[in-house]
Amino acid sequence: MNNFADTLLSWYQKSGRKDLPWQHPREPYRVWLSEIMLQQTQVVTVIPYFEKFIRHFPSVVDLANAELDEVLRLWAGLGYYARARNLHKAAIVIRDQHQGAFPSDQDDLEALPGIGRSTAGAIRAQAFAEPGVILDANVRRVLCRYHGIDSPPMQAETQKRLWQIAQTHTPDEHHADYAQAIMDLGATVCARRAQCAICPLQAECRACAEGRQDELPIKKEKKADKPVRTAHMFIIQNHRQEVFLQKRPPTGIWGGLYCPPLEYEENGITEHEAFKGSEIKLGQRRHTFSHFHLDFTPVICQDNCSSVDQVLDSSDGLWYNLCDTPPGGLPAAVTKLFTELKQDRELK
Ligand code: ADE
Repeated sequence: MNNFADTLLSWYQKSGRKDLPWQHPREPYRVWLSEIMLQQTQVVTVIPYFEKFIRHFPSVVDLANAELDEVLRLWAGLGYYARARNLHKAAIVIRDQHQGAFPSDQDDLEALPGIGRSTAGAIRAQAFAEPGVILDANVRRVLCRYHGIDSPPMQAETQKRLWQIAQTHTPDEHHADYAQAIMDLGATVCARRAQCAICPLQAECRACAEGRQDELPIKKEKKADKPVRTAHMFIIQNHRQEVFLQKRPPTGIWGGLYCPPLEYEENGITEHEAFKGSEIKLGQRRHTFSHFHLDFTPVICQDNCSSVDQVLDSSDGLWYNLCDTPPGGLPAAVTKLFTELKQDRELK
């Protein structure tokens, strides 16, 4: 076995995570679910969502047979909702085109919605004990530092080189442990702030030898601050104290989730004539997406005599009692708002 893999595997035996819920039992469906949840999200955040999902959908066919609304309801709060929509689509493909059995072939895996080259490698290594090659952001950081690579890591040439290196390091055995080891090292020890003093690869690491661990991998040009979009969120209440919700379009922010009507200021809508006089504006809040900040002001409005129909098509939404189970996923920002609203009502 190569030295790199050998050293990492010994470290994993002593210090790696061996009791993660998707490791016991280590089945393809559980490994896949965990890998999708772990994209852009930390292990501690993922664990309760993973356990809830497995309870609700014990198999990939259960997931495929579920309504997307139910999947989004369980995903709510984990963010990046395209992951949940792709998860559901992929489950349907596995049910209908793979007889419910998870494929183990790299190309078959990459053909599934939401699975890229690295995720396919992580699934093959952990679920099928195959030499799957992984190059996610954490592994990229480890390799750039270890090999002193100082070209932009996402540049095509560098990518090619990194995939080759990742493949060379991948051992011929202990695939699952190695996959977990290199991902854990990148997530914990060789994290953005490198902890070289406790790193098992320190002696051979070029960046550490040259004192360049904080410089590598080289960072993208500092991006301009994210743009800010402002909006009003109309919390329309009827005489039964229910709130009007619309299902958001499948693409775009909070795609497929249920949300009170949201109007961007850039579209010129800051109020609705129909609710004039009944509105109470709450303080503005910020929700940050990957590409912009959304500063939204909740506006509580009373729907008298179906005034909602003057500004919106009420057949396009539903009335929701805040004490009921939501009809599907609610954005975390909306759940928080509803909790405040309920507390406020209890005080009245
Ligand atoms: N990131 C992606 N997959 C991971 C895993 N299995 N363990 C820790 N971090 C990860």
